[in-house]
Amino acid sequence: MAKYLVTGGAGFIGSHLVKTLVGRGDEVRVLDNFETGKRSNLVEVEGQIELREVDLRDAGGVREACEGVDYVLHEAALPSVPRSVKEPRPSHETNVDGTFNVLEGARLAGVKRVVYAASSSAYGNQPGFPRVETMRPQPVSPYAVQKLTGELYMQSYWQVYGLETVCLRYFNIFGPCQDPSSTYSGVMAKFAMQMLCGEQPTIFGDGEQGRDFTYIDNVVSANLLAMKAPATFVAGRVFNIACGERHTLNETYSGLARLLSYALPAQYGPEREGDVRDSLAEVSAARAAFGYEPQIDFAEGLRRTVDWYRQKYAPREEQT
Ligand SMILES: NC(=O)c1ccc[n+]([C@@H]2O[C@H](COP(=O)([O-])OP(=O)(O)OC[C@H]3O[C@@H](n4cnc5c(N)ncnc54)[C@H](O)[C@@H]3O)[C@@H](O)[C@H]2O)c1
Repeated sequence: MAKYLVTGGAGFIGSHLVKTLVGRGDEVRVLDNFETGKRSNLVEVEGQIELREVDLRDAGGVREACEGVDYVLHEAALPSVPRSVKEPRPSHETNVDGTFNVLEGARLAGVKRVVYAASSSAYGNQPGFPRVETMRPQPVSPYAVQKLTGELYMQSYWQVYGLETVCLRYFNIFGPCQDPSSTYSGVMAKFAMQMLCGEQPTIFGDGEQGRDFTYIDNVVSANLLAMKAPATFVAGRVFNIACGERHTLNETYSGLARLLSYALPAQYGPEREGDVRDSLAEVSAARAAFGYEPQIDFAEGLRRTVDWYRQKYAPREEQT
């Protein structure tokens, strides 16, 4: 039985990873400071995991959390473009210094492999779709620069110290447990909750910007596959993790509205600074290296997500 450390394990993606690992009998330690994550995301595994309330910026705490661990899934971050534009310093300290602390902790503890939650924002607004890992990164926002810096650190630790690291560039992940309540929440979670509460969602920009929306189960399987693949195929490398489909925000809005029988049209606001216009990924590198295959497509992911938000946020009388 392997021992895993999941940083950001109380967050959206981290908590799905934790529940899957526990479900298959692995030992799991979670490190989180609950900045954006929630204890409620981990209720199903309460008593079955070791939970450490530690801030990534606390180098000593992170180092201790790495002790005795075989594998690290590094998900903790302040994961928002607009937040990084508004307040770049806390994002930088968590996303860059925090990632450095994880690598140092993992190196000193003799961890076997670190899989890092990288971001498609690294590609920026350059021409050329789909995005391929060989393209030169052109990050726009502070967040994108921070996540790319993490990738470079991951690659350095493989080359210099032989610590096996794998970077997975996630493309707009969505699904159950994504927090809909913050100004910085992902668009899918936010729209679903607003529609359920009878509020009118706002699309920033003209809504024709495209995203390679990727259902959470695909990301979980990518992490598990990348964790066990032979080092010769994955160590020191970067892989896109997506569905390989492009859907506009207008299309996403209509899909959610249809599933939720919501009649109002979207409101439109100004484009947000630092946002990329479009994203669409080529996933053949991950397929070739560790057999990644997106199992749940956009339409099915949307249905599952809506079912979950409906259960959680629909007014009481509708649920009875
Ligand atoms: N959701 C996406 O579409 C997406 C896309 C690309 C990359 N990512 C990356 O995936 C990872 C997980 O994202 P998510 O969507 O689950 O976000 P999330 O906000 O739900 O999870 C992040 C977790 O990190 C924790 N955290 C934040 N600052 C911390 C700190 N200083 N110390 C300890 N813990 C801290 C939060 O409390 C939270 O539990 C992030 O690294 C993010 O950059 C996400």
